[in-house]
Amino acid sequence: MTITRHEPARLELALYKSLENEELSSRIEAVRAQLGSGLLILGHHYQQDEVIAHSDLRGDSYQLSRLAADSQDCRTIVFCGVHFMAETADILANRPEKLAARSGERVTVILPDLAAGCSMADMAAVEQVEAAWEDLGQVIDTSEITPVTYINSAAGLKAFCGRHGGIVCTSSNAGPVLKWAFQRTRRVLFFPDQHLGRNTALRMGVPIEQMPVWNPYAPELGGNTEEAIRASRVLLWQGHCSVHQVFRPEHVQQLRLQVPGIKILVHPECPREVVDLADAFGSTYKIVQVVEQSPSGSKWAIGTELHLVNRLKKAHPDQEIHFLAPMVCMCATMYRIDLAHLCWSLENLVAGHRVNVIQVEPETSRWSLVALERMLQVSSVRETTLASPT
Ligand code: 13P
Ligand code: SF4
Repeated sequence: MTITRHEPARLELALYKSLENEELSSRIEAVRAQLGSGLLILGHHYQQDEVIAHSDLRGDSYQLSRLAADSQDCRTIVFCGVHFMAETADILANRPEKLAARSGERVTVILPDLAAGCSMADMAAVEQVEAAWEDLGQVIDTSEITPVTYINSAAGLKAFCGRHGGIVCTSSNAGPVLKWAFQRTRRVLFFPDQHLGRNTALRMGVPIEQMPVWNPYAPELGGNTEEAIRASRVLLWQGHCSVHQVFRPEHVQQLRLQVPGIKILVHPECPREVVDLADAFGSTYKIVQVVEQSPSGSKWAIGTELHLVNRLKKAHPDQEIHFLAPMVCMCATMYRIDLAHLCWSLENLVAGHRVNVIQVEPETSRWSLVALERMLQVSSVRETTLASPT
């Protein structure tokens, strides 16, 4: 006897693009009600308001990776963030002990728009880092280097760190992670964000002369001399965030002139010159925390992604909150996740089609997990104080 299975038709994205936000929102809520605790929608703080309104949990990269690691009942995570975040969620939610507790059942991780990448993560390809590692090995003993990757990187780079005794960090725990690395070796290769690496290491007392920048496109030794490599403590990968790179020292000076008493609060992905001038700096989590804990009448100019700053402004009308730059700078890739993509991916899920599933290949996942678990252990006791520029 032949059994004919009638596959439900996949719902096409184009149909959703023409719908009004109001309709999309009520359809998203209908799916959430139907799937209950089996569905977890995670939203990064930089996500647009319309989308973040539908998230069960929101946070910065560190909080979201913890939430994915701790998820209990959910069987599907829809990640309203960018690609590396969805990969991390897949690795953590499907690690061996979690899989065993669910009798092998995987958590499906969905990224509503696959084009939501991260330009910084794209600045370090695993082949480039492997080539750099080999080149470094011509000059120094690579067993004396701890590779540290910012979580804003492809899973392949996290796996590289796992294999080579290295670790992952987020902007929330870069300090404790670097401290861990320096207990292991006297040298660190930090990628892909030079600014986070530099800003963090400077505050740990590493002199700037011992932080050469590695340009992966330079013909030799990342554009450095052998002496510079031998003298290095932190080798900084030449990568940056296109959003945070926009903030300049003159923006700080202008706002201080325009608004007497204003305090400058910036993310450590900003260039050193900006962080040095700021009154305080910290991860997205810390920025939110500082504003939430500030008294009425506080005046802030904030140097981080625009959607978050605008949301803080709305949530704290009793404070005077300015965006640090005079121009618009938002995370254009994160912005790709809109209500149409969210509704489309959710309704496909209900119709039996899992679209845009992010599943990291097993070997990469295994080694990435090694580096991620080192990070989760190091920062299980979270820093609670806000770092101040020296
Ligand atoms: P955090 O979420 O760690 O603050 O990092 C900011 C960022 O750029 C996310 O991509
Ligand atoms: Fe990447 Fe910067 Fe966007 Fe974060 S804000 S996802 S680092 S481009």
